[in-house]
Amino acid sequence: MNSSKVEIFADQVYRNSIFIEKLDLSFSQFFVKSPSGALLCIETGMRGDFPLLKSNLLSAGIDVETVSGVIVPHFEADEMGALPEFISHNKNLVAYAHPICSHALADVFSVKTKPLKDEAPTTINGEVVIPIFTKHVHQWDALVIYLPRLKALFSSDIFMRFGSTEERSGDPVRDIVTSIEKSGYLPSIEYLHAALNKIKKYEIDSIFPMHGPAIHNDAAATINGLIEYCVKDRQKETVEG
Ligand SMILES: [Fe+2]
Ligand SMILES: [Fe+2]
Repeated sequence: MNSSKVEIFADQVYRNSIFIEKLDLSFSQFFVKSPSGALLCIETGMRGDFPLLKSNLLSAGIDVETVSGVIVPHFEADEMGALPEFISHNKNLVAYAHPICSHALADVFSVKTKPLKDEAPTTINGEVVIPIFTKHVHQWDALVIYLPRLKALFSSDIFMRFGSTEERSGDPVRDIVTSIEKSGYLPSIEYLHAALNKIKKYEIDSIFPMHGPAIHNDAAATINGLIEYCVKDRQKETVEG
């Protein structure tokens, strides 16, 4: 059975998540209320799930017409599939993405796009966002988003875990590593390692992955633990090499 829900973090981050039992995987979309009151969407979810997303948001008091900006972390169905639906609810919507992705979005959806720059703070409707390009994790155009105001990282497919979004006891790193090895979704640990090294310099209190639970208590330890895993894996590769 599939299930879906909306949760609110710190009064400002709305997470809609859909759990697909057959895949044992959850898909989340995030909506951040900026200081100006505007709503910023990070990841649209899949197009077929939009009616459910729309009604879930409405039950939390959010009308999708008020979403004026959408950040697309990479060109993939769960990250941008519902973009046409968001555009049809707000003709003035602007999509933000990696330059390669933003060209594709403008061409395919005739949406106004703004290309982001790697680690260059960008203000969207009063909210400062820092895009961190995470090339080849697991797509060429991949990026994650850091919001300094909330000390929150929206990590797209990094820190993904199978299962629901329910928070669990135990070591998140072990779970994340199991999910990496089970899914084979990363083309190379080397690129993940490079991405984590970029991410770790930011002061992060919360990590919001697209798949699986959020991480609130031990964000830095989780990042470091995953870096250690990458180092060990790469040493193994060299020895076996
Ligand atoms: Fe992806
Ligand atoms: Fe994904």
